[in-house]
Amino acid sequence: MKSIRFVALGGALALGLAACSGGGAGAGNDDESGAAADPSELTIGVAMPTETSERWIADGDAVKSQLEEAGYTVDLQYAADDIPTQSQQIDQMITKGADLLIVASIDGTALANQLQAAADAGIPVIAYDRLINGTENVDFYVTFDNYNVGVQQATSLLVGLGLLNADGTEGTATGPFNIELFAGSLDDNNAHFFYQGAMDTLQPYIDEGTLVVKSGQTDIEQVATLRWLQETAQKRMEDLLTSSYSDGSKVNGVLSPYDGISRGIITALQNAGYGATIDAGLPVVTGQDAEIASVKLIQDGTQFSTIFKDTRKLAEQAVISAESFLEGEEPEANDTESYDNGVKVVPSFLLESDIVYADNIQSLLIDSGYWTAEEVAAGQSD
Ligand code: GAL
Repeated sequence: MKSIRFVALGGALALGLAACSGGGAGAGNDDESGAAADPSELTIGVAMPTETSERWIADGDAVKSQLEEAGYTVDLQYAADDIPTQSQQIDQMITKGADLLIVASIDGTALANQLQAAADAGIPVIAYDRLINGTENVDFYVTFDNYNVGVQQATSLLVGLGLLNADGTEGTATGPFNIELFAGSLDDNNAHFFYQGAMDTLQPYIDEGTLVVKSGQTDIEQVATLRWLQETAQKRMEDLLTSSYSDGSKVNGVLSPYDGISRGIITALQNAGYGATIDAGLPVVTGQDAEIASVKLIQDGTQFSTIFKDTRKLAEQAVISAESFLEGEEPEANDTESYDNGVKVVPSFLLESDIVYADNIQSLLIDSGYWTAEEVAAGQSD
């Protein structure tokens, strides 16, 4: 994966606001004269959830390299999907004097104490990709349009089944089709947005009987996957096949919210004799993140689709927002309504995502330099 070169915004030395302590914005203004500090004197703590999913490695690398290019010192930590570990890492970043925090949380409700400490120390906090809930001490949120990601996932499922064409027009298939539904981790705010967007899209088809959820499991609590784990999804798919499809009926499609989950689902289906590819009888399975292993599966006709969220652009937006705070300004939001964290509506900057099918891997992922053709062919990053 190649990085997009980040061009540091001018004005890192611009005059900042003099009165800035205690409220978040302007931690960089530690100079009594009111001038913003030089980036080389500032440290940014970056807390990422896990290295088991390659997207978070890409996010961490992109945020770190772009911040370093802008002159900042970066303290990047991964928490192995362990909530106490992430809490400790953030505590340490604060103790060590971080000037700003960028946090992709594991459990969006578990960081209230840490963020209170950050606020008390005047450290601005940017929630990265996942919203942090239940605290007023999250100053900004950079993410994708998560509801629309869910709409895109469901749309690609409908396209795969032939009910829609990729251009949005009605397809020729009539159904009825058996589908099963998966959602992400309930403690991740995004999981709810993805599922809501997907279900708003699928519900009319379910209501008219074109889509049948044979297991009857449609509540997010029933279909969620703790920590987004591939093995957990594989096990649930195996259980669904046993409980709802041992009468000889077949699953035609599966809504999956994330590529790791998709691969677990596909493994369960292949093991149950559905065939190696969609042409050979494998159901249509969706995804998210354009992870390299899944992009190869899409190219091979095994997974049907994924959603591409360009982590380089998200990182770039996080850096732009961080620079604003450190210059004593509020970052520019493009959404001030959607993300209520239970205490306040967090000003957000939302990016757009794209549906990846086999026939646009080249234009979306290879031409943009996200993956090389060799990486796609190998199913592995260099
Ligand atoms: C979500 C994120 C998705 C996916 C998932 C599992 O919060 O928005 O893109 O990465 O976590 O890691």
